[in-house]
Amino acid sequence: HEEFTKVKNIATIELGRYEIETWYFSPFPPEYNDCVKLYFCEFCLNFMKRKEQLQRHMKKCDLKHPPGDEIYRSGTLSMFEVDGKKNKIYGQNLCYLAKLFLDHKTLYYDVDLFLFYVLCECDDRGCHMVGYFSKEKHSEESYNLACILTLPPYQRKGYGKFLIAFSYELSKKEGKVGTPERPLSDLGLLSYRGYWTRVLLDILKKHKGNISIKELSDMTAIKAEDILTTLQSLELIQYRKGQHVICADPKVLDRHLKAAGRGGLEVDVSKLIWTPYK
Ligand code: COA
Ligand code: NA
Repeated sequence: HEEFTKVKNIATIELGRYEIETWYFSPFPPEYNDCVKLYFCEFCLNFMKRKEQLQRHMKKCDLKHPPGDEIYRSGTLSMFEVDGKKNKIYGQNLCYLAKLFLDHKTLYYDVDLFLFYVLCECDDRGCHMVGYFSKEKHSEESYNLACILTLPPYQRKGYGKFLIAFSYELSKKEGKVGTPERPLSDLGLLSYRGYWTRVLLDILKKHKGNISIKELSDMTAIKAEDILTTLQSLELIQYRKGQHVICADPKVLDRHLKAAGRGGLEVDVSKLIWTPYK
């Protein structure tokens, strides 16, 4: 693949009130090849070569939030669902932007097939994008998340785990189990491991008596394989008489929970107004 071997071209971007150093190459159209810095409109995500162009653009751009439906609002946090088919340019812009921070992902030019869930912090100037995840409208492999990104200025604040939790809340509403598309990046895997560990151990701590992986999967929408690998890595699984058995000693659970880090921001399900894509 050509785009993997290319060296990073855009070194920094301006987005809202942040100047952000980029991490990886992103295949912007050829006319941007000579740029080391790009200026993004933080609302429509159009990008420009010069600051003056952006300033002119900001005077006439009337978006104050991502296009699409606001499906969640709690305090200053909002989540917007953007249909890549209805908002093609926005979807493409978001992919160009995201690729700057994603190493191994191929860019989806075919944004028609995806929904984008854009998380924003809102104030009186508008809804400012913090991060997002994308999701195939129809996944054969039961993927409930394709790409996930927290913009660098917002990282390590719990937004990643919020986005992951959100993807599973959507799966619960669909009545399906889900799993993230592979491969995951190191940071992606760390975030998922943390999320899975915390969710599963919280249930095991409260639960009295035996519980099966299937039951855990039904409760959490986490795919059985992901539950098994998580519990195996925590050494909570034994194999007895041809069956996986969960061994949950309360002391061991507490130790693992401590090691799993902070819980992240909670998704308040009562604030999610959404029906599955048909
Ligand atoms: N160093 C070590 N651990 C890290 C880390 C870092 N720089 N960033 C995240 N983690 C781990 C921690 O365990 C953290 O939990 P903790 O803060 O309670 O210890 C956990 O991941 C999640 O942190 P959180 O704040 O919820 O995530 P985030 O908002 O920073 O977002 C990503 C996580 C993966 C979305 C973000 O790193 C990102 O956008 N990376 C670039 C894109 C990418 O790789 N996406 C995944 C592709 S599959
Ligand atoms: Na991804």
